[in-house]
Amino acid sequence: MRKKIIAGNWKMNYTLSQAEEFVTSIVKQINVDDIDVVLCPNFVSLDRVYDLICQTNVKLGAQNVHYEDKGAYTGETSIDMLISAGVEYCIVGHSERRQYFNETDEIVNKKVKKIIEKDLKAILCVGETLEQRNNNEMFKVVEDQLVKDLKDITKEQIKRNIIIAYEPIWAIGTGVTATSMQAQEMCKFIRSTIAKMYNENIAENIRIQYGGSVKASNAKELLSMEDIDGALVGGASLTNDFVAIVNYD
Ligand code: 13P
Repeated sequence: MRKKIIAGNWKMNYTLSQAEEFVTSIVKQINVDDIDVVLCPNFVSLDRVYDLICQTNVKLGAQNVHYEDKGAYTGETSIDMLISAGVEYCIVGHSERRQYFNETDEIVNKKVKKIIEKDLKAILCVGETLEQRNNNEMFKVVEDQLVKDLKDITKEQIKRNIIIAYEPIWAIGTGVTATSMQAQEMCKFIRSTIAKMYNENIAENIRIQYGGSVKASNAKELLSMEDIDGALVGGASLTNDFVAIVNYD
């Protein structure tokens, strides 16, 4: 039985005081132990958010990391910095980073390796554009991302450190959610690809989230699908809707 995992990706939203106010207001209402709940604020707010959640079941995640340990990389954040702030999860390969910051699969793979080296959990995002879906290339695109992003990752490592998030780009921030059938179909495909790359047992146990306009009104349907083990929530994770999503059942 795979434990569900619901993560809030705040993206570039909330100042320190707004983050503090928001987390204070929601954290009391998140009282689940059968689901992993992760908040991914901006770097600036990590430490403050950690203080507010460290006595609860809610975990801290980052939205990005650099693959080098330290050095002359102006504007970047290292994995040890994240660890020192209480981070346990790190989103990697989000389509916004691929699209706006030119993150290639090679870079994503280096970041995944760094996250594994320090034994954090990577939430690895994959997904196709609308054009790729319309051309029926979505399975090929996602398979290609998985193969490249997980290059040289061992069975033990994928088992212990990797969560996959299927985020169709056309559903992110658009209000258009993939239908539960479309999301299920791709999550099942991802699982079968992992089975081919590793084995059935690993595929059966890996957790696969869906992300893209998840809201309180569609969470239950999406999360009831056989191969969907959680949600990566953007816009709705900034509001009280996140509490409703976590309490979907
Ligand atoms: P939205 O929920 O705002 O569509 O964003 C999804 C997402 O990108 C989460 O990482």
